[in-house]
Amino acid sequence: YALKRNGYNAHELSEGSIALRNMTGKELRKKYIEFFESKGCLHLPSDSLVPDDPSLLFTSAGMVQFKPYFIGAETPPRARVVTAQKCLRTDDIDEVGDAVHHTFFEMMGNFSFGDYFKREAILWAWEFLTDWLHLPQDRIWTSVYLDDDEAAQVWLHEVGLPPERVVRLGEDKNYWPANAPSRGPNGPCGPCNEIFLDMRPELGPPDDPPDAIAHDSNRFVEMWNLVFMQFLRGEGGELTPLPTKNIDTGLGLERVTAILQEAPSDYETDLFWPLIQKMEKLAGVKYGSNEATTTALRTIADHVRGAVFCIGDGVMPSNVKRGYVLRRMIRRAAIKARQIGYEGLFLHGLAPTVAEMFEDAYPDVANRLSFITNVLRSEEEKFQKTLSGGIHRLEEEIRTAQASESETIGGAVVFTLYDTYGFPSELTDELSRAEGLRADLDGFERLMEEQRARARQSGGMFADVFSGGETSIANLQKAVNKTEFLGYDTIDAQAKVLAILHNGEMVEAAQEGEQIQIVLDRTPFYAESGGQIGDFGHISSESGVVNVVDTRKAADIWLHDAVVASGEIRLDQNVEASVQGERRIAIMRNHTATHLLHAALRKHLGEHVTQAGSLVAPDRLRFDFTHFQAVTPQELRAIENEVNRHILADIPVTKKVMPLDEARSRGAMALFGEKYGAEVRTVTIGDVSMELCGGTHLERTAEVGLFKILSEASVAAGVRRIEAVTGQGSLEYVHTLEDRLREIASRLQAPQAEAVQAIDRLQITLRDMQQKLSAIQGKSSQEEATQLASSAVQVDGFKAICAQTQITDANAMSALADQLAARLKSAIVVLGSASDGKVMLVSKVTQDLVDRGFHAGNIVKVAAQEAGGGGGGRPDFAKAGGKNPAKLASALEKALEMIRKKVD
Ligand code: SER
Repeated sequence: YALKRNGYNAHELSEGSIALRNMTGKELRKKYIEFFESKGCLHLPSDSLVPDDPSLLFTSAGMVQFKPYFIGAETPPRARVVTAQKCLRTDDIDEVGDAVHHTFFEMMGNFSFGDYFKREAILWAWEFLTDWLHLPQDRIWTSVYLDDDEAAQVWLHEVGLPPERVVRLGEDKNYWPANAPSRGPNGPCGPCNEIFLDMRPELGPPDDPPDAIAHDSNRFVEMWNLVFMQFLRGEGGELTPLPTKNIDTGLGLERVTAILQEAPSDYETDLFWPLIQKMEKLAGVKYGSNEATTTALRTIADHVRGAVFCIGDGVMPSNVKRGYVLRRMIRRAAIKARQIGYEGLFLHGLAPTVAEMFEDAYPDVANRLSFITNVLRSEEEKFQKTLSGGIHRLEEEIRTAQASESETIGGAVVFTLYDTYGFPSELTDELSRAEGLRADLDGFERLMEEQRARARQSGGMFADVFSGGETSIANLQKAVNKTEFLGYDTIDAQAKVLAILHNGEMVEAAQEGEQIQIVLDRTPFYAESGGQIGDFGHISSESGVVNVVDTRKAADIWLHDAVVASGEIRLDQNVEASVQGERRIAIMRNHTATHLLHAALRKHLGEHVTQAGSLVAPDRLRFDFTHFQAVTPQELRAIENEVNRHILADIPVTKKVMPLDEARSRGAMALFGEKYGAEVRTVTIGDVSMELCGGTHLERTAEVGLFKILSEASVAAGVRRIEAVTGQGSLEYVHTLEDRLREIASRLQAPQAEAVQAIDRLQITLRDMQQKLSAIQGKSSQEEATQLASSAVQVDGFKAICAQTQITDANAMSALADQLAARLKSAIVVLGSASDGKVMLVSKVTQDLVDRGFHAGNIVKVAAQEAGGGGGGRPDFAKAGGKNPAKLASALEKALEMIRKKVD
């Protein structure tokens, strides 16, 4: 704790009147919630780090889960809410390791959806900071948006802050999101009001308070951001008032904990310190002993917290999107572990500490600890393997660059390191910088973009609301009500056209051949979700028919991706919407079978098995689950038998909507990382399975037909995948097997039932043939040896053979040379052969001639040079190669010439 934070001693802080030196992060989290509960706020749980929002990779603030409430698309359970939200931001990942930047952090927030506004938000923040946390009033500063007199007035006249401590700043500082009015993003936004603590009051008031607040973050530490969420930024940057005036605040838990504990950095608080201590013990290093170690320990602590929570929320390491961010954190941390001299697998050993630290607030981490640890360990293992290869390659590139006095590592190298060795580009950059070089990240990006473009070629049929992001969805929500889904009970229904989108624009009508998206007031089409893919079918009106080629949904609005097949379709028309029945029932078979499979896996492999992903399509089902070894063939059989037993028992499949708590207490399996509302739909198969599920299912299990597993394989560390078929798909599979067997039998010219015996016979014949063949070859090489021996020429008391052979196998050629030398007792043998445009040469010199100074290596070298190659070897034996078969004869002559010269 004796560290200095940016040049001043932390203990000077105690001259102020911070009285809560011993408050832990855990206690602060509790106090915050208690305080806002006392103001009538409902405490809601933290949302998953994986948000229900296609425009975001990770939950980056407490407000993410509440966007639908802000824009008025959904009704909140109460108009006042308080949360502790786990968040992940990676914009500052390169800064991690200093005192204050983090990837994973917690944001304490209080929210109002059209209820309290600026005045209460400010007064309560003040009350909490000064009455509950006892922060010194005279060190609190605040900044408001330029024209926000309303907020300023509350600070000046109700709180009583002196005017010099209320500064006004522009949209880069006092708008949320920053710069939203001029730069976006589109979506809910508003002016904000930040609250700071002066960490160095002894310096007296700053000369230029707005500048100091805006830029001197060492002195003025931002604790809390109160956002007055009142606008929606739409296309073209237009700000329109939201339906209600709202509050969204965020208090940084780590930062305020550090302040309360007078810690020199966030890392010396209970939110990180146990991890640092654990690492000190494991790696035998000391935090604070030098800057590199301190930075490494901080970075690992940060990244491990992030990685543990990501995996806990169902993110698996991969090369895209969230999985890539996770992989990058793990790899950065693993590199830092190496830098502090730890060679083995380090990170997984820290997961239990994280679980312990967050036991109260996030018990899920402890519940899933063994899974999290396993995923971390295998990812670390994988990285260790690639790391050595990659580092070696990078070092070579660095040397080459340095030798040629270049200052950059080329984009192509960065790309190869990423693509082949799994090196994040930032890592290449970081390691290059350490050698005084820069990586060409722009060049790398271009290559990545090319790769992405190649991958995209097949997709992208519809320009639609999904690619338009949040604004498009919000606009759509303004235009139409949510869709009523009828597909649990019927596949045909009367409906009305509420919207037609063409190239993402709302249109009045669409003509034959046009690709559109249609929104109806009600629909029997199932929209892709929970692994079950969207329905196909058609929608017909009196003026035309459209083919529906997919169905998706955006915030409770069903979008039918469609092509007008004939005539035209118009807004407000009455239509008949019909789902392709065969296809849908095939999907339902696979969905019900998926639940049976899930239950059977847990029964046969253990309760650690949880769903990690699934695809329910008409032709097959795919189920990913957590498990750490391959499933054995015996286990697979048992699982398949179990599922089929439940199918044959023809068990009813019942669906029921009930409160989430009730479903949980009845033991319904919830999917991990999935969000559920207060009311949930349960799908129950007798006493075999009960899952929370919104998919379409059969009435009884027997409708599944035969369930047949096609394959079992690994998809990622600790995740296995089973693919299986049902119903018609099983029949087709059996037919494929039959056809294959028939084909095999016909090629063997045997009846199917005797195919195996026919193969046995074939193998016996083959073995016989091989034996005969080797006998013949042996004989012919004997003959060749005899022939070659007789071609030997006499040179000064010994024999020399420089001849061509038909043998092209290197070992066989060496053996022949040995044999000849043995036969002739005192000899020099040079053999050469040509095949595939290449020349091969061997040379053998008996020991007595070696003693006379002959050298097989030198002889063969001369010959090889003639044949356009090179080589050499020992005095008694050597091999060489050439590229010019036309020169083989002259090469052998050269060898003989050399031998003769030596004698002369
Ligand atoms: N959304 C605001 C922020 O992230 C306040 O919660 O700072």
